[in-house]
Amino acid sequence: MELRKINTTDAKAQWEYTTELPANENGLTNPYHGVSFEEYEQKVLPTLISYEHPVNMPDWFVPETYYYLWDAGGLVGEFRIRHYLTETLRSGAGHIGYSIRKDARGKGYGTEGLKLTIAIAKTIIPEEEIYLRVNKNNIASQKVMLNNGAYQSGEDEDHFFFRIPKSANILEMELQRG
Ligand SMILES: CC(C)(COP(=O)(O)OP(=O)(O)OC[C@H]1O[C@@H](n2cnc3c(N)ncnc32)[C@H](O)[C@@H]1OP(=O)(O)O)[C@@H](O)C(=O)NCCC(=O)NCCS
Repeated sequence: MELRKINTTDAKAQWEYTTELPANENGLTNPYHGVSFEEYEQKVLPTLISYEHPVNMPDWFVPETYYYLWDAGGLVGEFRIRHYLTETLRSGAGHIGYSIRKDARGKGYGTEGLKLTIAIAKTIIPEEEIYLRVNKNNIASQKVMLNNGAYQSGEDEDHFFFRIPKSANILEMELQRG
């Protein structure tokens, strides 16, 4: 299993994932649901790649890098890392957003993908903790976070806020989980 940064070589698989991903599932938004391959290749893909080093974007826009989770059978998920927190992100969506292909859920990909994403995020983000937000009714995603050493730091009406200390020892937690 590996994470690959968004790229032009994998355009077809990335497009299939993006066009099938719902417009909003549990708060994870995707404005490109239903996009054609042509539009993806010509407009969406260059836009998403540019988010890592944004040009001509508003001040509030935080650099964001897209990664895709691959296993032997193909692309199974998407993980987005926002490079640092603003006040809006701190009390909102946090550093990382993710999803797993519908027919690949419940097989451990979310947990493993977040683990690989955290390893990369640790090299990017300046904060001591990785911030995450999850809907209160999204049990699977809460487990994905807890499996990766998250603790609950707060809540609002609809969400729990979780944080993962950069120092969290995943190996130790895996041993504890068995
Ligand atoms: C949340 C999501 C990424 C989880 O991915 P996944 O690959 O199914 O996660 P895993 O297989 O690693 O499962 C993690 C845990 O959740 C459990 N789980 C999986 N699907 C579940 C479900 N529908 N209801 C309850 N628990 C579920 C698993 O059994 C596992 O439990 P364990 O840790 O006790 O073994 C995936 O469901 C998804 O893409 N959802 C839509 C987008 C989304 O919600 N993104 C997160 C926004 S915060």
